Amino acid sequence: MRYSPQFLDEIRARLSVSDVVGRSVKLQRRGREFVGLSPFNPEKTPSFTVNDQKGFYHCFSSGNHGDIFGFLMETQGLSFTETVERLAADAGLDLPKADPQEAQRAKEYQGLHEIMELAAKYFEARLQATGGAGARGYLSDRGISDRALQTFRIGYAPPGRHELKNYLADQGVSADDMAKVGLVISGDDIPVSYDRFRDRVMFPIADLRGRVVGFGGRALQEDVPAKYLNSPETPLFHKGALLYNGKTARQTAHDKGTVVVVEGYMDVVAMALAGYHNVVAPLGTALTEDQLRLLWRMADEPILCFDGDRAGIKAAYRAIDLALPRLEPGKSMRFAALPEGQDPDDLIRDEGPGAIEAVLQRADALIDILWRREVSDQNLNIPERRAAFEDRLRNIVREISDPGVRRHYGHAIADRLSKLWGQETGRAQGKQNYGARGGRGQYSKRQIRQPSMLRGNALLAGAGSRIAHREAAILMALANHPELIEMFLEEIARLDLANQRLDSLRAGLLDIASQFDILDRDIVFKELENRRFGELLNDLKKIVEHARTGFALSSASIAGAEAGLRQAIFLHNKTLTLHKELLEAERALAEEDSEESLDRLRDIQAQLQNVESVEMLSDEPQDVV
Ligand code: CTP
Ligand code: MN
Repeated sequence: MRYSPQFLDEIRARLSVSDVVGRSVKLQRRGREFVGLSPFNPEKTPSFTVNDQKGFYHCFSSGNHGDIFGFLMETQGLSFTETVERLAADAGLDLPKADPQEAQRAKEYQGLHEIMELAAKYFEARLQATGGAGARGYLSDRGISDRALQTFRIGYAPPGRHELKNYLADQGVSADDMAKVGLVISGDDIPVSYDRFRDRVMFPIADLRGRVVGFGGRALQEDVPAKYLNSPETPLFHKGALLYNGKTARQTAHDKGTVVVVEGYMDVVAMALAGYHNVVAPLGTALTEDQLRLLWRMADEPILCFDGDRAGIKAAYRAIDLALPRLEPGKSMRFAALPEGQDPDDLIRDEGPGAIEAVLQRADALIDILWRREVSDQNLNIPERRAAFEDRLRNIVREISDPGVRRHYGHAIADRLSKLWGQETGRAQGKQNYGARGGRGQYSKRQIRQPSMLRGNALLAGAGSRIAHREAAILMALANHPELIEMFLEEIARLDLANQRLDSLRAGLLDIASQFDILDRDIVFKELENRRFGELLNDLKKIVEHARTGFALSSASIAGAEAGLRQAIFLHNKTLTLHKELLEAERALAEEDSEESLDRLRDIQAQLQNVESVEMLSDEPQDVV
């Protein structure tokens, strides 16, 4: 029986190493650890240590090292299963019931995969048989070599209604299973089930492991209702989560450093004939989130090839909208526009492989296509339209959830805008103030001399809410990614939070961290709720979701959360220090009205502005543009 990692963690969370080890080894506390005589080697001075925080024992004399499971296996000669059973009992946990359904499901899937493989072989054989002559002619007219037929396992589904069905039945496949994998069409109103694919060139679609999970079938005649017919959704075939040629592309993408996305099966085959193997196609639908994630696992900047016509451009724009919220540092997308009305297959046939190389070379960055989309057909000759245009760009940048990427998009868009306005008005560039670029010398002497507490309410409210928001984000990031608590332990301990409730939440987090050896999000939330922080957590969740503070959300990657948290803590501390210095400087100025004190005050104010602008750039791109 396989135990889930969660179950093993639950046992580890309930039993300390020193308890388990202490039953057979006499342990003495020394600082954060325990020491004792090695159970593995005879010795006089203790070289055996146990660390409950880390959940490990280590024996310096023998080099033996492990957790509670390892310890029992090593010292008692128990099997892993026996060890788990014994420790689960010690921990007061019931053993999870073996899941016969899961075993059954795995076996069944294997069965379904076998049926798909039988079908793939069958279609391949039928292409090479006499009845396949027409299809072979069609394929060779389209320039597809025998080698490519083999590589892509291209086949032919004969025209009869019960050909594959009879073949599979002879192989012992049940009618139910044939229907389950979508090879026959059946239903209550269909008395006799029949082959889904008839008289079509068959493209097997495989998963990333190369197992056939579905088919795309192309009609040989142009006047057939559906040019392509694909497998329906089945337990094996999920259109939105698969990429045609994914397995091969993944292998080659790594060497080439990129992966190319084209629209059709034929395009993938044509690209392979031209020497490009790092090419995939979605399965007749717009690119999905799952597919984008697969692509990003293959390469940092997948290149989307799109037709230069309206439909192709629309598809590219849709891909931008899909990608924006999901961009992460280093992860982007590029766009290669094909000549209007041509797909890669046409282009390679008409002009040779060099033509496609040129198209790929010219691929544009996402930001360029995005910008082009936004400025095209815009009439921006009056201030109101320009303002509306800026609003729209702000909203687009706000779509990006990663704070670093969002900040840089904010900069890039601001640069482009400032160039654009320079052109539009004929004025020299760089005169506009986009709000976040504040610096020295912006204050009149009178403004500066007002104590900061009295200066405009709006500013105070703005700065205050920004601080509160940042505090919320810091705590949510920690609750959502408890691994970071240990990493930032000292910073958290020193964190000076303005909000009392948040400060007690901070203390709660530290307390929980000290009680649990292994922390995960569920434990943290459960423990916080036990400590009556449930409602506060809900509020914080709303705040960070509303502000789209990417790093604080549970969906953030751990690296993203860590980077965001580091920045937020830094900014928080910096702001507090500057606020204190500001008060002192104001006091000094009140006492002695010298040019020097005034300079000092100006300097601090400029620094504060800087910190605030960094912050606005990272969580509120609307202030950038
Ligand atoms: N497609 C589909 N169903 C259709 C038409 C298209 O599923 N009725 C999908 C197929 O995956 C196809 C892709 O959309 O490969 C692109 O369609 P299209 O550009 O029309 O076909 P091509 O791939 O160019 O195929 P061919 O060159 O054979 O016309
Ligand atoms: Mn085509």
